[in-house]
Amino acid sequence: MARRLPQFVELRITGVDGDGRGLGEIEGRPIRVKNALPGEWVRVRLLRRQRGEWWGEADAVLEASPARHPAPCPRFPRCGGCAVQQLEGAAERLAKQARLLELLAASGVEVRKLRPPVAGPSYHYRTKARLGVRLVGDAPLVGFREHLSNRVARMDDCLVLTPRLGGLIEPLKVLVKGLSVRDAVPQIELAAGDAECALVLRHLRPLSAGDVAALRQFARRFGVALLTQAGGPQTATLLAGPVARKRRLGYAIPAFGLYLNFHPSDFTQVNLALNQRLVADVVQALGPPNGLTADLFCGIGNFALPLARRGHRVLGLEGDPGCIERAKGNAALNGLSGRCQFFVADLRKAPALPARLGAVVVDPPRSGLSPALVEALSGRTDRLAYVSCNPVTFAGDARHLADLGFQLTEAAVYDLFPHTAHIETLGLFER
Ligand SMILES: C[S@@+](CC[C@H](N)C(=O)[O-])C[C@H]1O[C@@H](n2cnc3c(N)ncnc32)[C@H](O)[C@@H]1O
Repeated sequence: MARRLPQFVELRITGVDGDGRGLGEIEGRPIRVKNALPGEWVRVRLLRRQRGEWWGEADAVLEASPARHPAPCPRFPRCGGCAVQQLEGAAERLAKQARLLELLAASGVEVRKLRPPVAGPSYHYRTKARLGVRLVGDAPLVGFREHLSNRVARMDDCLVLTPRLGGLIEPLKVLVKGLSVRDAVPQIELAAGDAECALVLRHLRPLSAGDVAALRQFARRFGVALLTQAGGPQTATLLAGPVARKRRLGYAIPAFGLYLNFHPSDFTQVNLALNQRLVADVVQALGPPNGLTADLFCGIGNFALPLARRGHRVLGLEGDPGCIERAKGNAALNGLSGRCQFFVADLRKAPALPARLGAVVVDPPRSGLSPALVEALSGRTDRLAYVSCNPVTFAGDARHLADLGFQLTEAAVYDLFPHTAHIETLGLFER
């Protein structure tokens, strides 16, 4: 930021961007403002200037929008864990739906039936987080990074984390303070299953014998699995914690009589409560079994196994070998190995697929589907459920699918990530 410029400015918010930030202008330049709603007059703390654009956050609202809702967390907007707390839940969901519709309209794609946004818990829903660690003097901070900063937010609990994880923040500060490597722990990953939690502590220097003893004691005292990670994610190694099968990290999908184990570094849905609904809706959207069903980007089998439970024969493809190992193990654990096959595949390319698929579910990363994959699928199926975490790529892929003869017959926004900018969508494409 140029030093001569003021640190605070007052301005009118005239719009909103795709991440829920208010849009305005200073000195003829665009600015994106966290914690600001269209129509509001706000005092903005300037945080960054990049490629001719400003970024900031409203630290005082001088004229409030009637839609404004008091932020329930005192650390908002400084803490980067949440993007939006200035809207009440239903208003936040409608804003996300409006964003989806705007992107679809810009792609020239119409939804035949738009279902109302699907809501789950607004607070204490999040079962995974990567928290930063930073020493301030002798005292470690453990928390989300601050908005647009590398600094770690000062927090002792969190409104969006599941209480079993939020309750570990203070004990983790005490743990880190006692480690010989306290200045070489950049982050701790936290993951909670239905009953158990796992922590992955990244360390940049070797642990001393005293560190190992302290970590073991922490794992015992708080009943968590503790993994240490000296290098890349593949170096995460279990140091201590419950390893007996019944207490493995995992979650149940009771409506389908399933239990799925996972490793803390696997992709899993962070909102396990609303995931139950999403899974049920995907299974319903695909209809009754009709030949082979494909689950692409299948992770640990979150959709494949419920489909298999309802009688589908499922082919699951996924790029992460660890997830595929877990998917196979989960099929065996639930007595479904006879109905599912799982393989590692890089789905940026068109995979080797059977000539005909009764139905397909895709759940790609934010980058969406590659053109090669869309074309490979369009020749093989007439029914495709698309679970998306990025409405921009969803709208682009929807256009491509429409050009290949598919109609977007149904869509809904799922509020899997309340208070963040993420928008989860389930769309059903039929031909
Ligand atoms: C949004 S997650 C969906 C996982 C699963 N469907 C679920 O509900 O838990 C996306 C998945 O795509 C996988 N992935 C990312 N890039 C990939 C690629 N190029 N080829 C295959 N899989 C990939 C990730 O490992 C991750 O498991």
